[in-house]
Amino acid sequence: MNIIHVSAECYPIAKVGGLADVVGALPKYQNQLGVRSSVIMPFYDNKFTKSNSFTNTYAAKLQLGDTTYNYKILTLDNNTLGFDLFLVDVPELLFKDYVYSFDDTDRFLAFQIAVLDWILQLKEKPTIVHCHDHHTGLIPFMMPHSHDYDKLKDIPTVLTIHNAQYQGWFSHDNVYKIPPFDFDKVGLLDWSHTINPLAAAIKCAWKVTTVSPSYMEELKTAANGLESLLSHESAKCIGILNGIDTNVWNPETDDFIIKTYTEKTIESGRKANKKWLCDEFDLDAEKPLFAFIGRLVGEKGADLLPQIFEEALQKYDISILLLGSGSEDIQNHLRSLEDKYIGNYSAFIGYDEKLSHIIYAGADFLLMPSRVEPCGLNQMYALRYGTVPIVNKIGGLKDTVVDITENGFGICHEEVSVKSVVKAIERAIEFYKDTQNFKKNRKLISQIDHSWNASAKQYITLYESLI
Ligand code: ADP
Ligand code: GLC
Repeated sequence: MNIIHVSAECYPIAKVGGLADVVGALPKYQNQLGVRSSVIMPFYDNKFTKSNSFTNTYAAKLQLGDTTYNYKILTLDNNTLGFDLFLVDVPELLFKDYVYSFDDTDRFLAFQIAVLDWILQLKEKPTIVHCHDHHTGLIPFMMPHSHDYDKLKDIPTVLTIHNAQYQGWFSHDNVYKIPPFDFDKVGLLDWSHTINPLAAAIKCAWKVTTVSPSYMEELKTAANGLESLLSHESAKCIGILNGIDTNVWNPETDDFIIKTYTEKTIESGRKANKKWLCDEFDLDAEKPLFAFIGRLVGEKGADLLPQIFEEALQKYDISILLLGSGSEDIQNHLRSLEDKYIGNYSAFIGYDEKLSHIIYAGADFLLMPSRVEPCGLNQMYALRYGTVPIVNKIGGLKDTVVDITENGFGICHEEVSVKSVVKAIERAIEFYKDTQNFKKNRKLISQIDHSWNASAKQYITLYESLI
């Protein structure tokens, strides 16, 4: 079996969020399980591409509407990723210092055309083409319906929906940019009078997965307009919980953290990481440390964070540290609190992979008041490092965190409101004060197995059902 994952992100090459972590880990685990699994993604202008060397393995031209672009397929030299990596270099469109921006329609359409043109000339065709999110959502349509790809029509496609909020909509005025197909099939591309790549992929992919079983269920009633489509296609849909890459996310070997630790040395190791964080951000290491890491958007409940933090800081003697970036408004609001709560609160606005690891290793609690969370990886990283997650009970959070009142190990709340999150913080403080149990719980959560082993096997079973 030879699987090609097609994605806009892949850790460590280019990461915006969890999609990168998944695509950087799942193929590695699949290779370990004896399935050849590789990744094809755009060649961006970023730190990774600047600091590595690549070999040009193929060059051709692609047609995007009236415009012709030269492109190359590059491979990574000295590849130690654990899977083969192919990069699509379309200098004018993809080689940018960002992953997503205003011009995504042309960029990702060109990417998908290049991927299929390249597959077309491969001697050994993939057994399955596995597409991730809407940026690759036209592939399941083009393979069976665009005349150019007639030879690929019998290759099964799988779509994984990491987030149904974003669908890649574009106007019918641009439909001519999709390689020619029988126009009576245009309905497959359409949803509510717009070209909708995610909807097209849901209709055309042989199987559709989402990144947790609960999210799959939730999509039937909340999918940003695609509810009826997902209900209609439910027979080919399945929720498979993401895993985490336990080689990258391993407190015993993690190069990013201040002090590594094992199950036995968890207390001293975590103490060193917490101390570093508190020194660096002017916080008191004696108080329970609550953290947030993530995109500052409504989906993550980030709009409520300023109010949650204010109320919690006024009521309780705690420290709060935030790492995130996103909406300007939220960023400004979060920054403005710093002067008011000197010594108790700090916000690092930006993206910092190293700092995120130290926070997982040093904070006592991780807040995730997400309104939508298809899976969420942060809570699983937190658990592995011994940090207690405080989560809203939805999507993947519901599938991975059990409340302490239900013989569990985390703190769950039932809705996203200032009141319920502050109440959850209060329960967390009580738990923290129960030192012996709190420490016991730390050890316990760090041993929960969320590695990809089980889920990678589930994907393989799914592939096998298609061939
Ligand atoms: P999403 O993909 O919706 O953003 P996930 O929980 O699946 O959410 O994954 C988020 C990933 O991005 C995690 O690896 C998390 O540590 C990382 N991350 C998010 N924001 C930041 C940030 N500001 N700095 C460093 N890492 C971040
Ligand atoms: C998306 C989701 C997140 C999930 C990630 C990886 O970004 O928002 O919940 O963990 O994809 O599948």
